[in-house]
Amino acid sequence: MAKKFYITTAIDYPNGTPHMGHAYEKVVTDCYARWNRLLGHETHFLTGTDENGQKLVESAQKSGTPTKEYVDAQVAGFRELCQKLNLSHDDFIRTTEKRHADVASDFWRKLEAKGDIYFGSYSGKYCLACESFYTELQAPDGICPDHKSELALKEEEGFFFKMSKYEDFILKFLRSNPQFVVPKNSYNEVLKRLEAEPLRDLAISRPNKDAWGIPVPGNEKFIMYTWFDALINYYSALDEKQREFWPADVHVIGKDIIWFHCVIWPCMLNALDLPLPKQVYVHGMILAEDGRKMSKSLGNGVDPSDMLSKYPLDTFRYYLLRAISAQSDGSFSEQELIDKHNNELGNDYGNLIMRVVKLSLKHLPAEIEGAGIEKQFDFGDVFERMKTAMDKREHNRALDALWEYVNKANQYVNDSEPWKLKNDPEALKPVVYNCLYAIHGLACLISPFLPHTGPATLASLGVQASSFDTIKFGETSYTLSEPSALFPKIM
Ligand code: MSP
Repeated sequence: MAKKFYITTAIDYPNGTPHMGHAYEKVVTDCYARWNRLLGHETHFLTGTDENGQKLVESAQKSGTPTKEYVDAQVAGFRELCQKLNLSHDDFIRTTEKRHADVASDFWRKLEAKGDIYFGSYSGKYCLACESFYTELQAPDGICPDHKSELALKEEEGFFFKMSKYEDFILKFLRSNPQFVVPKNSYNEVLKRLEAEPLRDLAISRPNKDAWGIPVPGNEKFIMYTWFDALINYYSALDEKQREFWPADVHVIGKDIIWFHCVIWPCMLNALDLPLPKQVYVHGMILAEDGRKMSKSLGNGVDPSDMLSKYPLDTFRYYLLRAISAQSDGSFSEQELIDKHNNELGNDYGNLIMRVVKLSLKHLPAEIEGAGIEKQFDFGDVFERMKTAMDKREHNRALDALWEYVNKANQYVNDSEPWKLKNDPEALKPVVYNCLYAIHGLACLISPFLPHTGPATLASLGVQASSFDTIKFGETSYTLSEPSALFPKIM
């Protein structure tokens, strides 16, 4: 039976238009989903929107639209982004859906029955943009470390999850599972915070002032705190049959929401006697070109939709996956994107395909068989190196390894000088076959990263997509057709 692989993005707050961070996280997650499909794993990829928060109500009020109408319109923009990015997600969950509310309510009842939920009062400093309380240690000056805005004092009565009860559990769990949080510095950050301050109980409700959100079962004067319900999406999205995918293999998130995923979520699951996800992969943040956070007030933001209307999707994906290091923050530079398009995608990759296929079509029959041809080009260990990098959540390094292979293929073409053999089809054919074999492997391995380019290349070779392992020298016949220019130069 195929190994199951379940991967998720965070679910986005749809109270603005999708930004570069959203696009980045989705592209990264999509690349791991596609990679796992290439490995033959039965893959489930979930993304979606986090809609129950109070800030959605406030944004709707500001826009003068009823909340439901506002949220529906906003979510359409997020779905559209998924489409524009050619995401291969299997499901898109909205936390306003019944399937989600049902599971969240069920979880609540179970925790209550276990005595893990109690009623009390809370006083703390809150950031609405994060929908989160901050402790003295995290925000000693009363300023949100993320949004740099003043925290509001919030004093409320409501329900609490007895998270303090799970302090020993989570400490032990994290200490004995260092691979649970990738990269290491994120793991250390969580552990350091856990060791520095006692784990507190978590406020998990807010007063039901605006009839928006999931009502607390049995007490409709309260709404579930948005983070409590949001985390549950990873589980609620799976129907009974899909529950085989639980536990998730990887939750892909940004570093601003580590605590929720690496401490709160595991504590909730443990309290519910459910298996924990296998890993939380924390990617870096996309910064503006000036190295600062992209923000409307600074005017340094780059809109992913603008980029997608100006450049081919695969150029955008390649740039995000190769130029931004998988485990640290990176600045978005449109010029760098253009340079990568022209040099790496156009010159290195596109030209390789063009010159081999065009030369062959001009001087040989369209069909090139491999029987009796001597193998001169070898894939080497590119696949193993890519696998290792992908397992470590270092997709940019996987692309580095792949590009060494692109260079090696180009080198093979240069060294074997097939253009000098154009009048000698017998001598030309083996060289061309070796080149096509090199391109075949390349197109297969590039597909999870560039889902248009890979299949388009395979189509010009007249072969179907397959797993890399099944590509055997000499066994495939290539039926060539004129390739369309994949990466026309951007001036
Ligand atoms: N709704 C919560 C997540 C709930 S998951 C149960 C949330 N939403 S968000 O819209 O603010 O962020 C969604 C994802 O985008 C998060 O993983 C966040 O870290 C990521 N990013 C937000 N800004 C980003 C960048 N500038 N760069 C990269 N990713 C960023 O948090």
